Amino acid sequence: MNTKINSLQAIMRSRNLPLLAITAGPDLLYLTGLGFHVSERPAILLIPANGQPSLIHPELEAEKVKNRSIVPLSSFPYGETKETWGHVVEEAMKTISDDANRIGVISTNIRFLEMDLIHKALPNLHFFAADELFQALRMQKSEQEISSIKKAIQIAEKAFMETLKYIEIGRTEIEIAAQLVLNLYRFGSDAELPFSPIVASGPNSADPHAIPVERIIQEGDLLVIDWGASYDHYISDITRTVSMGKPSDKFTLIAKTVKEANTRARETAKAGLPCNEVDRTTRMVINEAGFGEYFTHRTGHGIGMEAHEAPYISADYSKPLEVGNTFTIEPGIYLPGEGGVRIEDNIVITDTGAETLTSLPRDLFIVES
Ligand code: CO
Ligand code: CO
Repeated sequence: MNTKINSLQAIMRSRNLPLLAITAGPDLLYLTGLGFHVSERPAILLIPANGQPSLIHPELEAEKVKNRSIVPLSSFPYGETKETWGHVVEEAMKTISDDANRIGVISTNIRFLEMDLIHKALPNLHFFAADELFQALRMQKSEQEISSIKKAIQIAEKAFMETLKYIEIGRTEIEIAAQLVLNLYRFGSDAELPFSPIVASGPNSADPHAIPVERIIQEGDLLVIDWGASYDHYISDITRTVSMGKPSDKFTLIAKTVKEANTRARETAKAGLPCNEVDRTTRMVINEAGFGEYFTHRTGHGIGMEAHEAPYISADYSKPLEVGNTFTIEPGIYLPGEGGVRIEDNIVITDTGAETLTSLPRDLFIVES
């Protein structure tokens, strides 16, 4: 059987957890290779600590389940009549050993819809959050997962360099974002991008999570561009900053500071070091330069099938980094009303330290008019 399910079941046995329920989304995709949209039709994967998992799914997905699952599953299809769903869930729950008294769920994914169906099938089951267990599993990236992330980075970097040629005064943020999306597809991204690219110009670039608007690019603007590609369901998440013409002294200084913070973080990260130490190191560089109050978010987050997964490189996350962790380092300085700079790279922890997977230059990209 597939090693991911095997590893998960081994963790379950070691922690004495009899049963997990995973619903439509990245965790289900990760374990079974089956992508389900989150919709009014539930998909529930029941994983016992021993033996074959069961999948409750809409009948119309039966072909997909049969042909594309990467693990053996007992299939429990249900039809379009809602009244019959409960019965199908009951049948599936009968495959679970009688002494299971609790069921682990991913608290941020499961909905009342699925919890209610499970509860009605087995009213004595207690629900508990298994988020941490799952994060621990997904944080350990295999060679194959890392190679997909590398591919997603290559696609994203090519798409950015191509889009750079298109950036000029007079275009809008949305036009540039659209061009970037086009180039991501052109260079081989999966259709489902990890997120919509951010193109934030001028004062908008001081908002870390700005969405592109109709603002026209002007001389002297900074452009924060944050984008990623997806390859075989694994993603990249990169940010670079562009300057329209020669940057002011102030912008040059913040760009230099952010680059230094980014570099120090990447040099510091290694197996065994608590994540919040990496965050502290990054923050120290920016504090020392006098811009501490303008670095308003965490240093980074894990990447894999999702753009925001564990580990979190933040002050309140003290878990040590482990070999196989993949994550971003993305310090930024945002001067309200003026502009911002962010430099985001993608990292993997190896036996010898941290390998930076992204390769684009980290200085401001200067576009001459
Ligand atoms: Co990003
Ligand atoms: Co990010």
